[in-house]
Amino acid sequence: MTQDKVLCDIGFIGLGVMGKNLVLNLADNGFNIAAFDLCDEKVQGVIEQDRLENTTASPRVYGCSSYTELLSQLKAPHLIVLSVPAGAPVDQVCENLIGAGIQPDDIVIDTGNSLWVDTVARENKYKSNFLLFSSAVSGGEVGARFGPSLMPSGSPYAWTRVKPIWEAISAKVDPQTGKPIERNQPGQVITEGEPCAAYIGPAGAGHYVKMVHNGIEYADMQIICEAFHILNAGLGLNATEIADIFEQWNNGLLDSYLMEISVEVLRHKSSDTGTTLVDLILDKAGQKGTGLWTAMSSLEVGCPAPTIAQAVYARSISSFKELRTQAATILVGPNPAELSAQEKQDYIEQLHDAIYCAKMCAYAQGFQLMKLAAKEHGWTLNFANIAKIWRAGCIIRATFLQSITQAYERNSDLDNLLLDDFFAKQLSERQLNWRKAVCGATMFGIPSGALSSALSYYDSIRSETLPANLLQGQRDFFGAHTFERVDKADGKKYHVQWSTTERKTVVIG
Ligand code: 6PG
Repeated sequence: MTQDKVLCDIGFIGLGVMGKNLVLNLADNGFNIAAFDLCDEKVQGVIEQDRLENTTASPRVYGCSSYTELLSQLKAPHLIVLSVPAGAPVDQVCENLIGAGIQPDDIVIDTGNSLWVDTVARENKYKSNFLLFSSAVSGGEVGARFGPSLMPSGSPYAWTRVKPIWEAISAKVDPQTGKPIERNQPGQVITEGEPCAAYIGPAGAGHYVKMVHNGIEYADMQIICEAFHILNAGLGLNATEIADIFEQWNNGLLDSYLMEISVEVLRHKSSDTGTTLVDLILDKAGQKGTGLWTAMSSLEVGCPAPTIAQAVYARSISSFKELRTQAATILVGPNPAELSAQEKQDYIEQLHDAIYCAKMCAYAQGFQLMKLAAKEHGWTLNFANIAKIWRAGCIIRATFLQSITQAYERNSDLDNLLLDDFFAKQLSERQLNWRKAVCGATMFGIPSGALSSALSYYDSIRSETLPANLLQGQRDFFGAHTFERVDKADGKKYHVQWSTTERKTVVIG
């Protein structure tokens, strides 16, 4: 089809899986797109898809073969969306846009999983050339097509231009129930409900929040995977039986997208063997880095996020397949447990509560991390809004996010989610089952790092006294690092002269 020259609302660069689907979503919502990718096949692919889906009289997507053509095809000031891999490709595209004559009042929106500090640096680096805005996107291929969760940040002026577009294409939530409003057909547009797109803050803030979203995603996935492992290797249930249990759980408190897709994966039979695919998938996990960044940031900020970090470690240890195969023949575990049918049933119930409690802790870790990072970087984050835009569209979407929204609406300054009355009550009612589930996994010899690290986190948070008293003593012994005393005034430092026979305590300051 020959395409007449029409000035488009939005330029789009990067037509991979996410890009292509975002373009079609924008088109459904009435925006004309000038689309460009270094690979011409991808440009033709999105034009063809638009032709198949478009029910209006004129094309909605216009293909471009260069950066210059892209700019010439847009209404000024230009609004350009990037969907390219994080890192060097983002800078490459920015430089190419400069070469093609982008103007200082043009806006470029980076929708990739960029490292938040890179976004801060880029906004500054390119400010005389164009306005770099960022908006992390969650939801994968289907989310991008029918409504993702969007985490925009950067110049408030740019947000005034981006907001109507972002609110139109994002997922929507029924404000009464907190549940997603379904949209799954090309051409379908949802105008009611609360959009899962909210301005997060200055440059970098949105990518930071998306990074933590992914950290929580890692933890949530790992918790579900540990439950699968325990049911499979500990209780001897097969993938289909586990899918039945997960499906039941997904109709209750554990309702989430990740639980839903786990059921689908567990039920899937390989077309060539006819057996459950999950038993054929190699147990080595990949990772692109956002979980690692979250864990690293938690260490830098000094905010414990052990369940998120544990989920990253679990992926790393899975990659040592050869070592594990060798160690399996050397290192001894417990004898297989013989459980009665009733004991198995009881254990399954305990495991349900363990998943729920561990999940609360993973979210508590992520939200506290965002709070402390925001303080460090001078951002004012609205946690109720963040929980709100995660209720639909994104990978961690779950009914549970409505409870988090309500907790932060009750107290926007909550230090830790677990201190909210609702969450404290949930944990107190279920903690015994959680402990039993972790004990069970330990006795089966099944690794349960996420479930147990969350329990340890819970016990640490609720412990008025921790053994850091002995630790301070050790530090003072070998390094004269000093300690404070509970029976003396706050802030006074003491040191014991450990190497002398008198071992006198002296006041340091
Ligand atoms: C999302 C996903 C998305 C992607 C991550 C995870 O929110 O849509 O988190 O960003 O799937 O890159 O990737 P890894 O598991 O490979 O780290």
